Amino acid sequence: MMAKIIMITSGKGGVGKSSVCSGLGYHLARLGKKVLILEMDSGLRCLDIMLGVNETTVHDISDVLCGRCEPIKAIYQSPITENLSMMPATFRPDSTYSSELFHKLCKGLSSYYDYILIETPAGFGRTLADIAKVSDLALLVVTPDPISMRDAKILSDYLDDDRGLKKQRIIINKVKTNRGKLEVLPNLDVVIDTVLEPLIGVIPYEPEMVRALSQGRMLPVRYLAGRALQNIARRITGEFVDLAVY
Ligand SMILES: Nc1ncnc2c1ncn2[C@@H]1O[C@H](COP(=O)(O)OP(=O)(O)OP(=O)(O)O)[C@@H](O)[C@H]1O
Ligand SMILES: [Mg+2]
Repeated sequence: MMAKIIMITSGKGGVGKSSVCSGLGYHLARLGKKVLILEMDSGLRCLDIMLGVNETTVHDISDVLCGRCEPIKAIYQSPITENLSMMPATFRPDSTYSSELFHKLCKGLSSYYDYILIETPAGFGRTLADIAKVSDLALLVVTPDPISMRDAKILSDYLDDDRGLKKQRIIINKVKTNRGKLEVLPNLDVVIDTVLEPLIGVIPYEPEMVRALSQGRMLPVRYLAGRALQNIARRITGEFVDLAVY
């Protein structure tokens, strides 16, 4: 088995990378896939809470990359569902690591999983470049507003031109409509036309998402946003699922 490595990234912060990462990890695991989530946002971790492992974590990825522990010691099984594990980011904002060891770690881990999802920090930097180098696919999380869209376009060009990461898909998150109309943009095509990558899913704005994730629960699929995440996970596995735009 060689895992497919998927980076979940955005130019602008706060657009929903962690929420999407945990949701996709959950749904891929529910589809019977073995999933590992790697959080690479040093200093600002949150996926341990979303995945319900925050009470049990002792080690983190910086312990592994600094040789303080074996990778297995920093991998925690989520109580939310079988087949879903995570390696948390470090709390240390100033932690450094070797790119080479990071690549070795990813390659080593990929023989044990079907999917490795890596959340990147927002914006650019060496960490982003390191993650792009090991990834097979980038999911660009973007919200339907001009700032997030422009940042996504800059990021997409960087991944494409500088990093040679051709396979990219857009996830439009936090979509709010009022009587069928978006708040800021005339329509969602504008996002695709700006970022110039194919769309893999649209996730509606759902206030319940914040509450669920802060309690280490997943948003149920009876919510449209939960269903949207499930559909994106199915598309990732190669299934054809009609695209619903809410
Ligand atoms: N579809 C959604 N509907 C409503 N709220 C959402 C949705 N997606 C994410 N959020 C909320 O937006 C906030 C930011 O989400 P999240 O932490 O996932 O973003 P992020 O891109 O990982 O942020 P950072 O750049 O800090 O890592 C959270 O409060 C989250 O609950
Ligand atoms: Mg995050």
